[in-house]
Amino acid sequence: MNAIHHHPHLTGVPETLLWTLHGRAQAALDPMSSLDDPAAVRVYQQIAYDFMRFGPPDVAHGLTVQQNDLAVERWLAQRQAGGVEGMVVELGVGLETRHLRCGDHTSWWVCVDVPCVMSLRDRLLPPTRRCAHIACSALGTKWMDLIPDDGPVCIIAQGLLMYFEPYEVQSLVAELFQRFPLLTLIFDAVPSWLSQKTLRGWLVGEGYAVPSMPWGIDPEAVEATLRAWAPEVASVTRVDAAVMGNTPGPCVRALQRLPGFKRHAASVVVARSAPR
Ligand SMILES: C[S@@+](CC[C@H](N)C(=O)[O-])C[C@H]1O[C@@H](n2cnc3c(N)ncnc32)[C@H](O)[C@@H]1O
Repeated sequence: MNAIHHHPHLTGVPETLLWTLHGRAQAALDPMSSLDDPAAVRVYQQIAYDFMRFGPPDVAHGLTVQQNDLAVERWLAQRQAGGVEGMVVELGVGLETRHLRCGDHTSWWVCVDVPCVMSLRDRLLPPTRRCAHIACSALGTKWMDLIPDDGPVCIIAQGLLMYFEPYEVQSLVAELFQRFPLLTLIFDAVPSWLSQKTLRGWLVGEGYAVPSMPWGIDPEAVEATLRAWAPEVASVTRVDAAVMGNTPGPCVRALQRLPGFKRHAASVVVARSAPR
């Protein structure tokens, strides 16, 4: 199985899924890390791509993944306690394997990404009865029309919103909270200094040019901004990378203690609507 190599033929923002996969798979391969993800390692090994051009894996990627997993697992546990099946939607899913890490026989997963990515995902992580694939933009309403709006929905946008223009993020957030009255929205955000750095041109590793991230937001502005965009937002929690990680290894703990780390890494946000 591992001998089959898939050529991704991706450029621009879709190619960034290989950068985050690199971070996740390398974290899963690291014996000091608590991220257990054999499927990510398998997929990583099946792709014909020079991942080393991204340089060493970005610690923030692995931490964000674990923080999002915690948030989803808590959400699913609450559904199970109430005897309700959970509907999880992953926007800009790329080659994420969260449905295998966190999903179970009571959860339904819907994965959304643009068509060039979905055709790769279909080959490497085929859809199942409990994990559907929809090839379309997260910014359109095609996928929204397929999601029941009368029950609790958890929508995750990991590594996605920063690549949109600010007005696109605003209208997407407003639309989601209007459509889904029982919504939990989980996403990671980059601070504005990092957004500006990408607009000037940011090279990582062996000269990989990170695509522009037009939407950046400083951590302290997140809650007020979400409430202004969507009056349905009832609560916002934010976790900084400085305190992320399930059981981070000693290197990550040392990094997290550095004064500049908090300012330099992404934060994970969980926003919930008020039940009507
Ligand atoms: C940094 S990758 C993150 C992938 C995955 N969530 C992860 O964490 O590994 C960004 C993803 O957003 C997807 N994407 C970009 N624009 C999109 C759009 N308009 N609608 C849906 N997905 C989009 C890309 O194709 C890519 O898979």
